[in-house]
Amino acid sequence: MTDEKRRLRSTAWFGGNGKNAFMHRSWMKNQGLPDDAFDGRPVIGICNTWSELTPCNAHLRGIAEHVKRGVYEAGGLPLEFPVMSLGESNMRPTAMLFRNLASMDVEESITSNPLDGVILLVGCDKTTPALLMGAASANLPTIAISGGPMLNGKFRGQDIGSGTHVWKFAEEVKAGRMSEEDFVSAEQGQSRSAGSCMTMGTASTMASMVEALGIGMPDNAAIPAVDARRGVLAHLAGRQIVDLVRKDVKIAQILTKAAFENAIRVNGAIGGSTNAVLHLIAIARRIGVELDLGDWDRLGRGVPTIVDLMPSGRFLMEDFYYAGGLSTVMSALDEAGMLHANELTVNGKTIGENIRNAPNYNKDVIREWDNPLTKEGGIAVLKGNLAPSGAVIKPSAATPELMQHRGKAVVFENIEHYYARIDDPELDIDATSVMVLKNCGPRGYPGMAEVGNMPLPAKLLKQGVSDMVRISDARMSGTAYGTVVLHVAPEAAAGGNLALVKDGDIIELDVAGRRLELMVSDEELELRRREWKPLEPPASGYRSLYVERVLQADAGCDFDFLVGRRDAGIPRNSH
Ligand code: FES
Ligand code: MG
Repeated sequence: MTDEKRRLRSTAWFGGNGKNAFMHRSWMKNQGLPDDAFDGRPVIGICNTWSELTPCNAHLRGIAEHVKRGVYEAGGLPLEFPVMSLGESNMRPTAMLFRNLASMDVEESITSNPLDGVILLVGCDKTTPALLMGAASANLPTIAISGGPMLNGKFRGQDIGSGTHVWKFAEEVKAGRMSEEDFVSAEQGQSRSAGSCMTMGTASTMASMVEALGIGMPDNAAIPAVDARRGVLAHLAGRQIVDLVRKDVKIAQILTKAAFENAIRVNGAIGGSTNAVLHLIAIARRIGVELDLGDWDRLGRGVPTIVDLMPSGRFLMEDFYYAGGLSTVMSALDEAGMLHANELTVNGKTIGENIRNAPNYNKDVIREWDNPLTKEGGIAVLKGNLAPSGAVIKPSAATPELMQHRGKAVVFENIEHYYARIDDPELDIDATSVMVLKNCGPRGYPGMAEVGNMPLPAKLLKQGVSDMVRISDARMSGTAYGTVVLHVAPEAAAGGNLALVKDGDIIELDVAGRRLELMVSDEELELRRREWKPLEPPASGYRSLYVERVLQADAGCDFDFLVGRRDAGIPRNSH
């Protein structure tokens, strides 16, 4: 046995001739594997979130086949295994409630098994952070492969975007401008191929973060799911992971602070989802990198959004790929001096080597640096007595005139209260009001649902009002838009001042000044606090653990006991 083979982790299971080695090998051989599959070659786990209940990931078993070809070709042994899959479109009350649970599944599946390296097959929103969080804590050589976006949605001659057009069309129906029949007939056209949402929603944002962090292969963000080049990428990643194992390049060598800084700037340039704020903070803290809201605000400043994709802009992911994809965007950031170009990526090259001088084939889709979609595209972090630990807003999705605004609060105690009240013709609300939603944060919902982009009241939509200031401790779908302040921390259910807002209170939003203030005196807030009653926590089950241990939004909503790296060692014998 060579030195290289001796140091592989899987050898602790498959090496030698003892009783345990017999057991580990013999049972595996029932799958038709020859003796030399266990000769000390790199064993590569393919961690798969395939599920028919996660439509965006339903094609991932096909992607796994391409990975296997590459792994075999490079002399490794690929072994595919399932982990909990999180489907955004079906799971209630919100897939986010299960992100940390899935990350535990991933970490423990990796560390308890005879694996030397891992490929993560991800796609739908939460699957990407869940797998990266678990893999970061396990710290083996790792490559993430996104499933790729669906082809552009098509409806009656128009391109329509996942999610974005659901919100748009639902508003049209509410305002009486679209029939319910037409609404339903758009369903099939929106989702007409395998893949994830093809807007710059959370899935596309996280696929872009994978590429920007260097933990995915070049072009990971944008190749459509059904484009043969997605298969090529998976094949090459299969070869590459074997090489990373041989060279012992672990995920911690890729996910550095500088890599996260690159990802934050890329998020600004693509007009990425606010959900990335939570996810990147959570992933970073798993690997041992300190990342906070201050980094998001600092690094986002001066980054223009140059990618003209829905929900902020006009185009879709297919257009983005044909225009050059993420390397074109990163090349623009590099030229502006906003990229750490020397960061190592999983293909063995630096990010600079991967992206330098990437061509731009369509300047309508990827605009020029000095002709952006939004000048200040970075996520803005707001603070003030309404959000002492911070809140976020996505300027590229907001209305410029509302970014500096003072208005009277219209308060909803929870989402059911909102549903019951919003279309009441008697509700005292106008276009200048500030809609406030409580108890939708990590502990309050629980799970921090994507309900922050509260639809406007029908009576105002009918008057032609298209945007209003909205504030909550919730998240919003990456496919949504509007002047929406999210992730208020501490949340209402944790006793944050958000819990104390009353109808008619004056709220001031000042995005340029990064402020969010409730114009109520400290004395009055103190009086209100004495009357505030916390929500009843869930009595048992996973939800009770969740509410007890989840961190606030500014810390990424991880469980307190999961933060940090535990590194996959060699566990004790099982028999
Ligand atoms: Fe799965 Fe959007 S619902 S990616
Ligand atoms: Mg979502």
